[in-house]
Amino acid sequence: MDRIRIVGGNELHGVIPISGAKNAALPLMIASLLTDDTLTLENVPHLADVEQLIRILGNHGADISVNGRRERQGESYARTVHFTSRNIVSTTAPYELVSKMRASFWVIGPLLTREGKARVSLPGGCAIGTRPVDLFIEGLAALGANIEIDGGYVNATAPAGGLIGARYVFPKVSVGATHVLMMAATLANGTTVLGNAAREPEVVDLAKCLNAMGAKISGQGTSTVTIEGVRSLSGARHRVLPDRIETGTYAMAVAMAGGDVILEDTEASLLDTALEAIRRAGAQISETNSGIRIVRNGAGIKPVDIVTDPFPGFPTDLQAQFMGLMTRSSGVSHITETIFENRFMHVQELARLGAKISLSGQTAKVEGVSRLKGAPVMATDLRASVSLVIAGLAAEGETMVSRVYHLDRGFERLEEKLTRCGAHVERVSD
Ligand code: EPZ
Repeated sequence: MDRIRIVGGNELHGVIPISGAKNAALPLMIASLLTDDTLTLENVPHLADVEQLIRILGNHGADISVNGRRERQGESYARTVHFTSRNIVSTTAPYELVSKMRASFWVIGPLLTREGKARVSLPGGCAIGTRPVDLFIEGLAALGANIEIDGGYVNATAPAGGLIGARYVFPKVSVGATHVLMMAATLANGTTVLGNAAREPEVVDLAKCLNAMGAKISGQGTSTVTIEGVRSLSGARHRVLPDRIETGTYAMAVAMAGGDVILEDTEASLLDTALEAIRRAGAQISETNSGIRIVRNGAGIKPVDIVTDPFPGFPTDLQAQFMGLMTRSSGVSHITETIFENRFMHVQELARLGAKISLSGQTAKVEGVSRLKGAPVMATDLRASVSLVIAGLAAEGETMVSRVYHLDRGFERLEEKLTRCGAHVERVSD
């Protein structure tokens, strides 16, 4: 199994191209099930999660072809992928596939609204928390679906004439349930109004793509989204928005290691809250024509408190990385996680590098230390694992991160992107 070896101490200098967002690409790919026409997505990142979803969509009858590569510095990054689901050959998403990736549960929306039925395995537990699906079930039931849970599967059927537009207010903000309800409502009869909807940029990107396919969605990016049902959707061409989590991760890597890096093909407005926290920690951040420049020269890292929140708050997907940065701050910082109840697995691993962190409920108290020392550590989930890489960049000596398949789920060519900027990071295959 592959491991990542980091030798800390080098500053980062250069340019890092930011990939298309994993968490936008996944729902966009699933939206292709809504039409018998071809949906073409540009800037699709090459990641394990994307490959897994390609397999899942193929199981439902999607015909998928990949071409078009963006050449940069002699390497290819983003891909253009065409999805055509002329006929849905199966409305069942089996346990073996859904259990590998929670987002695959989201096929329930398009399958139910297009085919009138869907049988989708419950995704099961997940390392970062219990992650139930009650909001999906309640929301789809509000659109008239009959839903039963049987043998670990959600069996959903639409009324004879199809789903019926309705008003549904989410009791809690959920990105995935907003994606699914929005997709399901596009082909429902009448108008659906979703209250307390997620405002994440990935929701806006999905709405933009659905509208290009002929849907009538308005209010995306606010907490009230209105969807007027249409009879059918057509194909479209859509470019996946930049990955704000990857952007924030590399910005924190530079803040940690020091240096001067341009993050290219991304937008500061996607992550204002996180950039502000990094600025307060002592890095200089400015916008360029095509992205963001981040500099930390000499100055130390200052302690900053953060609380994770739904967008536009500080993203939970950057919490672990920020904690990595705070391990080297000059004082005490508090990091509070409000989205997932068990998203602190990186704490024990960071401690192996010499970090001083104590947990009290949903808050971690991080006492900055003047030096970290490399050690063998284990990746536990996608974002936790990259926090170990960030810490490793500033640790003395060698940090060896095992279970890197977690990283491969969400970071495209991580070691290449960092190495090009002068970091000593390599993949070791046993
Ligand atoms: C998305 O997950 C992201 N995944 C997550 O990124 C991200 O951490 C999360 O949103 C929050 O921003 C993708 O986009 C593929 P939620 P999602 O539904 O949609 C609770 C990563 O590392 N909830 O917004 O699954 C839930 O338990 C991943 O890339 C219910 O209670 O998250 C959580 O506490 C990890 N009932 C909260 O809502 C439900 O039916 C927010 O979860 C659904 C959710």
